[in-house]
Amino acid sequence: TILILDFGSQYTHLIARRIREFGVYSELLACTTKIADLSFKPKGVILSGGPYSVYEAGSPHVDPAVWDLKVPVLGICYGLQEICHTRGGKVENCEKKEFGKAIITVQGESQLFQGLAKEISVWMSHGDQVTKVPEGFTTIASTHTAPFAAVEKAQDRIYGIQFHPEVTHSDLGKELLENFVVKICHAKSSWTMVVGAVSGGVDSTIAAKLMSMAIGDRFHAILVDNGVMRMNECAQSKVLLQEHLGINLTLADASELFLGRLKGVTNPEQKRKIIGNTFIEVFEAEAAKIEKEQEESGKGKIEFLLQGTLYPDVIESISFKGPSATIKTHHNVGGLLEDMKLKVIEPLRELFKDEVRELGSILKIDDELVWRHPFPGPGIAIRVLGEVTPSQVEIARKADYIYIEEIKKAGLYRKISQAYAALLPVKSVGVMGDNRTYEQVIALRAVETTDFMTADWFEMPYALLKKISSRIINEVDGVNRVVYDISSKPPATIEWE
Ligand code: XMP
Repeated sequence: TILILDFGSQYTHLIARRIREFGVYSELLACTTKIADLSFKPKGVILSGGPYSVYEAGSPHVDPAVWDLKVPVLGICYGLQEICHTRGGKVENCEKKEFGKAIITVQGESQLFQGLAKEISVWMSHGDQVTKVPEGFTTIASTHTAPFAAVEKAQDRIYGIQFHPEVTHSDLGKELLENFVVKICHAKSSWTMVVGAVSGGVDSTIAAKLMSMAIGDRFHAILVDNGVMRMNECAQSKVLLQEHLGINLTLADASELFLGRLKGVTNPEQKRKIIGNTFIEVFEAEAAKIEKEQEESGKGKIEFLLQGTLYPDVIESISFKGPSATIKTHHNVGGLLEDMKLKVIEPLRELFKDEVRELGSILKIDDELVWRHPFPGPGIAIRVLGEVTPSQVEIARKADYIYIEEIKKAGLYRKISQAYAALLPVKSVGVMGDNRTYEQVIALRAVETTDFMTADWFEMPYALLKKISSRIINEVDGVNRVVYDISSKPPATIEWE
């Protein structure tokens, strides 16, 4: 941990931000903090800038016990002046206040400037300056107006700089701070990583966005292409997550593996199990790869798994259960926890779906995503009844795409809770032109529900059904009949399998 003592500069939080980028934990505390009260021993201390004059009565001063820690100390602006003032140097009001850009010339071989240029453009913002350094200190950089732009007492590892390396206007400021934190303090990356599966759906996307806002690229999202996603879904989700939302993302294309294992399988529960287990396998392998890469770059281990659990899932798992039957095994990533020994983070676990959507709007996530209908983990595999083959998936995908497109065009998408097209495992006779056809059937499903526990079928306008049916039969090869599902849940379920 690097301790940052805040003397009130408007830039102090940027110091913490920069240090975080090196993967090092820092704690920002008030400048009046008593060293004896710390609950940790810092590897180094940074004294920030501040609006005061060190020589004025009432100005804040660091607890002298900081020097007994015998750890490296870096003073920035006021911090430098504080070091000089309290250790026998002199600080005075400068005739010419210095604000804005200045060029420093580096002298000597200080570790603080190791590997950096000899002339650096930096950001200054001060009215006082050091006019005499304490005993044992040497100058390591100066400008033409500030002879002591940077000083050090190398043997005690005490450094002071007049400029602000934490602002982006200072060139090489990040490198300088990194020299201090990593080379001088030897602070190691102690941050752990979080991984999480994303599907392109509302919950996982919002959970991922929150996580990446909180910890940046310490969070790594994994999108597994299981070969049974909707049309263009993976590519679109990748663009959304990575480019629009700035989330660190790996897309793992495992479609062949999934489809290979689904070959010949017709039992719905078995499909779910195969997909669930394969998912865990692929996810773990990807996470292991990421962890290896991160460890090599000194970034630490994966310790947490992000999950987009919502309140209804929590309620379900804590409420009283008698000998109730498993209707369907809903696949989630639960098995991952046992295998990977990860701790779970569930930022949405106290929210209902509508609250998650509201949160998505607050986070300015696209309406298109925020209002997206839920999509089951096993995807189109449970919407292709019977055996799941690539050509069957393609038919279901195309029909579904047309169906949803028309619903959206008609302005009904938000009125419907969930809609999809299923491909039935039967053939029916039809006629096209002068020829007899013997092809498959698409069943359209649309329901209204608030909790997905019970649902009513949606009263789709006939004209719209007519349009959808005609488009699907004309545009999707292999389909010659479309039916509309008018069953409520219960006794039917929302999915056909
Ligand atoms: P049922 O078909 O049980 O569906 O009425 C209720 C809701 O759950 C979704 N569903 C699943 N979601 N994994 C999921 O993540 C699954 O295996 C699964 N099966 C059904 C379904 O889409 C509906 O929203």
